Amino acid sequence: MEIIIGADYDEISKAAAAAMAKVVRDKPTAVLGLATGSTPIGMYKELIRLHRDEGLDFSQVTTFNLDEYVGLDGSHDQSYRYFMTENLFKDINVKIENTNVPAGISDDFKASCQAYEEKIRAAGGIDVQVLGIGSDGHIAFNEPSSSLASRTRLKTLTQQTIDDNARFFERPEDVPVYCVTMGVGTILEAKKLILLASGAGKTDAVADAIEGPVSSMCTASALQLHPDSAFYVDLAATGKLKMLEYYQWVQAKKSGAPAWTEPPRTEAPTDVRFIDPAADLPSSPGMTVSSVI
Ligand code: F6R
Repeated sequence: MEIIIGADYDEISKAAAAAMAKVVRDKPTAVLGLATGSTPIGMYKELIRLHRDEGLDFSQVTTFNLDEYVGLDGSHDQSYRYFMTENLFKDINVKIENTNVPAGISDDFKASCQAYEEKIRAAGGIDVQVLGIGSDGHIAFNEPSSSLASRTRLKTLTQQTIDDNARFFERPEDVPVYCVTMGVGTILEAKKLILLASGAGKTDAVADAIEGPVSSMCTASALQLHPDSAFYVDLAATGKLKMLEYYQWVQAKKSGAPAWTEPPRTEAPTDVRFIDPAADLPSSPGMTVSSVI
């Protein structure tokens, strides 16, 4: 597990975009798992800039989004399909037919959720999955008590998530109560996980996810089980991290660490390995990058 601390939202957004861009450059046919919400917007802006200014090519990528509200179709301005069009798809050269968002309207959710899982498998699996984190520690809409083995399915949102998301809707009562979401098990099958967390409202969730026990009560803690996961956290969200100084110490000591070639994907999460996160990051003099493996 890698912990990357940026001074602010802008820095973690650029650092995460650089990591995403590397995946796309290394594999132009990459399958990208995408998230909505306010946190990834800065990262999407940077990906758009990389496309416009540096020719980052999305023409062969396939995308799968994490979740969608039940009852909203893609033309609704609060649907996640609409969000993706507005915040990313319309400004890069991805083929719209290669973009996938779970169906929020279906006659048979069981079948449409299974078909979504099947489509991910048929695409060869997700190469990199972007995640935000809810103030209750959720990833995608896997609310507390979601099974860590769960697959794409219907979920009922918590009141806390409904309240958190009410800011996007005209009236609080307009926030849907149900959603379709990839499961934690689905997410853990992605080859690489990038979680973004920003702001003081996420301090408890970030601490629980990184330093708490692996628990269905904080589904982001499942990232501890993944061999290639990274948390991109701005300083404002680090307030409750007990080991913050250690993460910074690890980074400070990185230049003296023995060289390491490409690590095997299947190693146990407890293995020690050294990587150079700076290789994936834009140079930014003010940036504090800390990582722990
Ligand atoms: C959205 C999603 C959610 C959000 C989370 C944080 O696709 O999967 O888990 O990432 O609710 O939302 P923001 O970024 O708005 O704080």
